[in-house]
Amino acid sequence: MTKTIKKAVFPVAGLGTRFLPATKASPKEMLPVVDKPLIQYGVEEAVAAGVEVMIFITGRNKSSISNHFDTAYELEMELESRNKTALLNLVRNIVPPHVSCVFIRQSMALGLGHAVLCAEPVVGDEPFAVLLADDLIEDGDRGCLAQMVDVFSQTGCSILATEQVPPANTGSYGIVDTDGEGKLVEVKSIVEKPKPEEAPSNRGVVGRYVLTSKIFQHLSQTGRGTGGEIQLTDGIARLMEKDKVMAYAFDGQRYDCGSKLGYLQANVDYALKHEQLGAGFEVWIKNRFSS
Ligand code: UTP
Repeated sequence: MTKTIKKAVFPVAGLGTRFLPATKASPKEMLPVVDKPLIQYGVEEAVAAGVEVMIFITGRNKSSISNHFDTAYELEMELESRNKTALLNLVRNIVPPHVSCVFIRQSMALGLGHAVLCAEPVVGDEPFAVLLADDLIEDGDRGCLAQMVDVFSQTGCSILATEQVPPANTGSYGIVDTDGEGKLVEVKSIVEKPKPEEAPSNRGVVGRYVLTSKIFQHLSQTGRGTGGEIQLTDGIARLMEKDKVMAYAFDGQRYDCGSKLGYLQANVDYALKHEQLGAGFEVWIKNRFSS
């Protein structure tokens, strides 16, 4: 089996109900953090990890995502005629030339597990990554997915990115029980959104996965679970019965941009470190809270 990851799946077919009405007609993955949509941060993280094929699982009202990664002729011509070279380069280089984008429609939002299963015809029998773009992970020296790809090249096992979550919040995550507390440990069991009193630990799975293609056969046999949806967590639980799955405590700060609070926190932190805006924003925010 190859131990490189060349394909990444971006499930973006969810309804984004926590962000209504902002997400009534446009996808949550297009919400900007400062000046870039969430989905672009995710794609950039995947490119930095060596991914060459981006597979988007889309649904209704998601055409702005495919438009974002497509050529925008009118806009480019307009910028060219106005000599706005820097902006022209910005819109032309959303994805590097060696990267291709594939769009698959999930006709009904049956759940994250079902969305991942929709990618099977394009992924085939290769290991692949899954990124949930509403989990924004700050790129330190090495992005979260790049770290996971490194781990996969050494182990060849499916890997789940994890972090400690507040005990009261286990009901928002897949929670793993692991063989010890280390940075990279085997998963003994996984449960979707347990109540705090039923959670096996506080180690929560966040939106980055490296999976072997064996997950597809398990997902195809997975019925509806928590919330009436076909859950990726349940497919992973089946996979674990046959194959080793590892939990990896990644380095980096995650922002839960699927929630309004996490989204606002990301905007403040990214604005503060923004090359052009940072200094001015910091002055404003200090004045705002000085009195
Ligand atoms: P979420 O649980 O965050 O759901 O899905 P959501 O619909 O996006 O948002 P809320 O909770 O209603 O506000 C986790 C990920 O799985 C994708 C979503 O797009 C998101 O990236 N997803 C979910 C699908 O692609 N298809 C589905 O059927 C369900």
